[in-house]
Amino acid sequence: EAGQIADRMGYKIYAAGGVVRDILLGQESLDVDLVVEGNGILLAEELAKLYDARVRQHQNFGTAEILFSDDFKIDVATARVEFYAYPAALPQVESSTLHQDLYRRDFTINAMAVALNESSYGNLIDFFDGRKDLQEHTVRVLHNLSFIEDPTRILRAIRFEQRYGFKIEPQTLKFLNETVNRDVLSRVSNERIGEELKHIFLEPQAGIMLRRMNELAVWPFIFPGVNYSEIEPALMNLHRALQQIIDWGMKVPEPRWLVYLIAILHRSDAEVARAVCEQYAVDKRSTEKLLAALQGWNRSADVLRQKPQHLKVSQQAQILLQMPWESSPLLLAILNDEESQERFRQLLNIIRDSKPKTSGEYIRNLGYRPGPVYREVLDALWREKLDGNLDTEEEEQAFMRD
Ligand code: CTP
Repeated sequence: EAGQIADRMGYKIYAAGGVVRDILLGQESLDVDLVVEGNGILLAEELAKLYDARVRQHQNFGTAEILFSDDFKIDVATARVEFYAYPAALPQVESSTLHQDLYRRDFTINAMAVALNESSYGNLIDFFDGRKDLQEHTVRVLHNLSFIEDPTRILRAIRFEQRYGFKIEPQTLKFLNETVNRDVLSRVSNERIGEELKHIFLEPQAGIMLRRMNELAVWPFIFPGVNYSEIEPALMNLHRALQQIIDWGMKVPEPRWLVYLIAILHRSDAEVARAVCEQYAVDKRSTEKLLAALQGWNRSADVLRQKPQHLKVSQQAQILLQMPWESSPLLLAILNDEESQERFRQLLNIIRDSKPKTSGEYIRNLGYRPGPVYREVLDALWREKLDGNLDTEEEEQAFMRD
């Protein structure tokens, strides 16, 4: 459709970047980037009309986003035409603007385009041998200043390398190391690094990406004062643990970045953890959850390993419930025996299934005035339920009358 609209408007149009890479890899791609030689914003509006979608435009950049209702998004960019570069009649002019657009990108595998106009539909435009690098499993920059121009590409290089099981090409690795050694990362805004981190945490291979960050000496810039080797075992298991909890049919621990941040900081002092939270502008509530997790994980893990033995279920539950739900993947990840993991699952199920059937309403009907006594009675009721002493509603009510 975009091709037909562009044909009518007399523009050239391409799909570019990640979507081309993913198509060539035979993988699904969620976001589509379009590059238009013409007015990208006008084209976005036409396309959105067709699908009843919304457009968000950025006039200054000549870009627009087409937002479809179901999370799907198309970015439309205008390839800048250099008026002075060639006499207008030369046929090369147009593709030179596409060339420039692609040349500004991070890696060869992300710098390919596919033509969408009818006459050229499906043609691959690959100025920098991206397809060959895909076949050879290589992450390669387009020029030696790529990391200097945008140091967040260091994290992107690691992300693509580990996501696809590729290798950063030797020369590219040299540029990367030089950029790290020249301390350029400390000049990047924490907000941009935070955005890249969020992307990493959403990847199934996040643990290995973090390991690679440590290997390439990037870690100290990103998580200053955090000892990587202490937390490696937990990080390596974290994604699997998260998946396990989801497979158990329990609530998804979210947001993902908090799940990871808790795991990354769980062996750190509170001051180090606070500093990292501040660095990435973590909101107050999440910071508090994180600090509660830091304080409680050790004791909770002990409970699940049955040290000390013979705690009542209600006592175990009380300790566990001091932890935020976002720390449950960490807990599961550090329990490395199946028995404790199974105990964790059972305890969570018991907690879920032990909600008393009787409510505060019943206490009021017994003649008590609302007040602290309500909480006390309900807590006691809940403890008895957890310990398996009460089953039916009648038993609950009898307990409350006593
Ligand atoms: N890009 C870049 N430098 C960056 C970020 C992005 O050159 N620092 C370019 C790349 O060509 C990339 C495109 O912009 O393909 C779109 O970026 P983004 O949506 O972040 O990445 P994708 O390649 O689509 O990757 P993902 O599969 O993770 O969405």
